[in-house]
Amino acid sequence: MKTLLVTGGCGFIGSNFIRWQLATYPDVEIVNVDKLTYAGNLENLVDLESDSRYQFLKGDICDRAFIEQALAERPVDAVINFAAESHVDRSILDSGPFVQTNIVGTQVLLDASRQAGISRYVQVSTDEVYGSLDKDGYFTETTPLDPSSPYSASKTAADLLVQAYVRTHGFPAITTRCSNNYGPYQFPEKLIPLFIANALQDQSLPVYGTGENVRDWIFVTDHCRGIDAALRQGKDGEVYNFGGHAELQNIKLTKTLLDALGKPHSLIRHVEDRAGHDFRYAIDTTKAERELGWQPAVSFETGLQQTIDWYLAHRDWVERILSGAYRDYYDQQYGGRLA
Ligand code: NAD
Ligand code: TYD
Repeated sequence: MKTLLVTGGCGFIGSNFIRWQLATYPDVEIVNVDKLTYAGNLENLVDLESDSRYQFLKGDICDRAFIEQALAERPVDAVINFAAESHVDRSILDSGPFVQTNIVGTQVLLDASRQAGISRYVQVSTDEVYGSLDKDGYFTETTPLDPSSPYSASKTAADLLVQAYVRTHGFPAITTRCSNNYGPYQFPEKLIPLFIANALQDQSLPVYGTGENVRDWIFVTDHCRGIDAALRQGKDGEVYNFGGHAELQNIKLTKTLLDALGKPHSLIRHVEDRAGHDFRYAIDTTKAERELGWQPAVSFETGLQQTIDWYLAHRDWVERILSGAYRDYYDQQYGGRLA
C-alpha cells in the first residue's frame, strides 16, 4: 500500500486520515482528489503542502475523464472514497447534490478503479444506512439497510453499488460503516462544532425536539485507524462497523459542552425536530475487534476535551469559515493553477 488515492481529503475525516497516514507510514504517498465544495477546506492540510509525499488534485469524483486520468498518471494501490455530501439537514433541503456525488460519484470511482485494476477500494460509509434503533439493540454488519434521510438513502445506494460490483465483477472492495465522528477540523454545521462555535459567541444552541435522541460518538482518529485496518487487513467484499462505545443523548452532550466551556444552560433552545429524525444509533464492533484487531482508543471524555481545546485554539479557523473567507485561500494559494 504505497500510493493511496483519497477522495474528499479536504473535508473533516479525510484531512484527519491523510495527516494520520503520513505521520504513521513514512513511505506512503497520497493523492488527494477533492472538488472543494463548501465543506472542502484547503487550510485543513496547509501543513502538508511542502510534503513531497502529498499531492492535491482539484476535481469532481463524478467527472469520469478526470478520475480516469488521475488513476492513469501514476500507479495507485488503493482508492479510499471519503468524498460525499455529508450533512443530513442539507439533504432534507435539497437531495440533488447527494444523489449526484454520493451515488453517481461512487459509480464513477468504481468503474474507473476497476478499469485501472486497483487492488483495493474502500468505501467510507455510515451507520445511518441501518436506520434508527429504539432504546435497545445495536447495529451489526448484517442489520438490514433501512435509511431515513436523503443523505443516508444516498449512502445506502452507494453501499449497494459497491456490494453489486463485488458480487458481479469480483471487485476488491471493502465497506466501512462508522458512527458519529467528532474532533479537529469538523465543519461547524454538525452538532459538536456548531454548538462550540455558538456557545463561544454566547449564541443559542438549537437542540432539535426534546434532545433525547442518542448518537454514538467516536473520536476521528479512531475512525481513521479503523479505515486503515480495513484497508490493510480487511477481506475483499466485507463490511466493517466502527463505533466509539460512547452513547449519549443530545441534550446531555449539549449540557456537557456548556459546562466545559463555562457557559450557562440558558443558551439551550429547543427548536422544531428534524424531519425523519433517527432516534438512536449504537454499534456492535465485535467483527472489527475480532477480524481487524481494532478497538476505539480515545475515551469520550479525553476526545471531547481535546476537541474543545482545538476549537478554542483555532477560533480564527472557525471565523474564516463563518465569514466565508476560507474560500479565498484556494485563489491566494493556487491562483487557479490547478483549476
Ligand atoms: P465533509 O463534508 O467534512 O467532507 C466531504 C469532502 O468531500 C469535502 O472536502 C468536499 O469538498 C468533498 N467532496 C464533496 N463532493 C465531492 C465531489 N463530487 N468530488 C470530490 N470531492 C467532493 O465530510 P466528512 O464528515 O469528512 O465525511 C467523510 C465521509 O465519511 C463521507 O463519505 C461520510 O458519509 C462518511 N461518514 C461521516 C461520518 C461523520 O460523522 N462525519 C460518520 C460516518 C461516515
Ligand atoms: P449531526 O451532527 O447533524 O449528525 P447526524 O445527523 O449525522 O447524526 O447531528 C447529531 C445529532 O444532533 C442529531 O440527532 C441531530 C442533532 N442536532 C441538533 O439537535 N441540533 C443541531 O443544530 C444539529 C446540527 C444537530
